[in-house]
Amino acid sequence: MYPRVMLVRPRRNRSRPALRRLLQETRLCADDLVLPLFVQEGEGLASPIASMPGQARLSIDRLVERAAEAEALGIPGVVLFPVLPDEAKDSRGSTSSKPDGLLQRAIRSLKEALPSLLVITDVALDPYSSDGHDGVLVDGRIDNDETLPILAAMAVAQAQAGADLVAPSDMMDGRVASIREALDAADFTEVGIGSYCTKYASAFYGPFRDALDSAPREGDKATYQMDPANAREALREVELDEAEGADWLMVKPGLVYADIIRLVRDHSALPVAAYHVSGEYAMLHAAAERGWLDYEACLLESLVSLKRAGADVIFSYGALDAARLLARQG
Ligand code: PBG
Repeated sequence: MYPRVMLVRPRRNRSRPALRRLLQETRLCADDLVLPLFVQEGEGLASPIASMPGQARLSIDRLVERAAEAEALGIPGVVLFPVLPDEAKDSRGSTSSKPDGLLQRAIRSLKEALPSLLVITDVALDPYSSDGHDGVLVDGRIDNDETLPILAAMAVAQAQAGADLVAPSDMMDGRVASIREALDAADFTEVGIGSYCTKYASAFYGPFRDALDSAPREGDKATYQMDPANAREALREVELDEAEGADWLMVKPGLVYADIIRLVRDHSALPVAAYHVSGEYAMLHAAAERGWLDYEACLLESLVSLKRAGADVIFSYGALDAARLLARQG
């Protein structure tokens, strides 16, 4: 039944903690992480987001505090999302390029308080759109080319406020080139573009849309975000974004699209970022609240899986928790 001599025993390499440490192929660290943060008007506010335990809509003062915590734990950057009242929304997202808009003020405050922390911004109409879409809705359709100059102006306003990297998440065709051209024309040649190159039309964004109250008022995002069933199509987006001057390629959501992270990694020399999105984060908390999962262990396992799949950068609402846990592990 049992061989007398078993030459190959993979368990030998797993037998002692020091050996396992030595042989670990993928090592997650705070340097890999970006913390997404939600900003709202006001002062001293941290309004909890019900479907995202541990996350809150923060006024700028509290945002700066939270970002300082991230920096102290070694997290290199944050990505910001503004939560706007309905009065600040219209069909063309006009408030998105105001120099004194909420997001622009938040960027300035962060840069003043924490000059070396990277500030990444999202470029899309949805936080500013009364229709809850990432592009301009004209006669019931998202008008790609009408949207491009709005995105470009938004990116320039963010750069003017001090953003280090703008991350278009709208999935309009040609947006990377339009944004690059506008940034260069305004002399922001050093502001990078982290393109959400392959962003899927995912139901895992549900809690995020609760946080921003940004769900589409009508229809869905399937005419611009990708079909979850498609992988080959991702390569077209990779080629285009590379040609248009993207500095990073991003894949979103994360875990459910680990095969896409690997595909993009294998087809491009650009850095790849994965977004562990709101629904992925909410699931861990929901199961942990019921005592069904260990939140901390499952969070670290999720993040290391994204890195193993090929992500150089991981956006996660659990970034602070993960960085604390990693610091404890030493
Ligand atoms: C908006 C945007 C979305 C997310 C990031 N940027 C939502 C959407 O496309 O509807 C989702 C992030 C998350 O779920 O954590 N363009």
